[in-house]
Amino acid sequence: MNMDDTRELLREIDAYVENLFAPSDEVLEAALRDSRRAGLPEINVSPNEGRLLQLLVEIAGARRILEIGTLGGYSAIHFARVLPDDGSLISLEIDEHHAGVARNNVERAGLSDKIEIRVGDAHELLAALVEDGEGTFDLIFIDADKESYPAYLDWSLRLSRPGSLILGDNTIRGGSVLDPKDATARATNEFNERIAKDPGLSSIALPLIRERIDGLTIAKVL
Ligand SMILES: C[S@@+](CC[C@H](N)C(=O)[O-])C[C@H]1O[C@@H](n2cnc3c(N)ncnc32)[C@H](O)[C@@H]1O
Repeated sequence: MNMDDTRELLREIDAYVENLFAPSDEVLEAALRDSRRAGLPEINVSPNEGRLLQLLVEIAGARRILEIGTLGGYSAIHFARVLPDDGSLISLEIDEHHAGVARNNVERAGLSDKIEIRVGDAHELLAALVEDGEGTFDLIFIDADKESYPAYLDWSLRLSRPGSLILGDNTIRGGSVLDPKDATARATNEFNERIAKDPGLSSIALPLIRERIDGLTIAKVL
C-alpha cells in the first residue's frame, strides 16, 4: 500500500468512527463555522478526540476542569456538555479575539454558566490560580503553545490531586517526536518523557488518527 492509499484509509477509518461515535450537531458545526469566519486557525480537537475527552471526563467523574488553550471553545463545549450540573470549566486563552469568539460559541451552546474563559498568558494565569488558592482540578487539558508543555506540566502537578487526569494534546506530531529536530517536538518529547518516567503518574501517549497521526498523552495522578 502506498502513502496515498494509507492516508485515504486513515481518513476513512476516522470518518467511520466519527459517524458511529461522534456525530456532529448544529451547535458544534456553528462553533466551527463562526471560528473559521472569524479567521481562527483550524487547530481544534477533532470530533473523535472531543468524544474521547468526554469519555475521560465521565470515567474520571470529573467536576472541575481546567483547560489551557481555548481557541474558539470547541473542546470546551465538548467537556462542558458532559459535566454534572454542579460542574465547571476554567479555560485559559492568551488571545482576546479567540476568547471573544469562544464566548459567543459557548453562549449559543447554552453553557455560559459552566465555562469561564480567562484571558492572559497561561503562565501568569496558572500562577494566579495557585496563588489565589483556587484548589485542585479533576481534569487538566493542556492544548496551548507546545514549547510550554513542560512548564504547563509543572503547574498541572501543583493543581491536581491523586485521581486527577492530566491530558496533553498533539504529543505525537506526525511522528516528529521520534526524532525531534525543532523546539516544538523537543518540548513535546520532554513532556512525554517526564510523564512516562514519573512514578507518581500512570500514563500513556495514545496515537490518534486525523489527517496525520497525532496523539493525546493521558496521565492519572497516583
Ligand atoms: C490548539 S489551540 C486550542 C484548541 C482548543 N483546545 C480546541 O480544541 O478547541 C491553542 C490555543 O492556545 C492559545 N495559546 C497559545 N499560547 C498561549 C499562552 N501562552 N497562554 C494561553 N493561551 C495560549 C492560542 O491562542 C490558541 O487559541
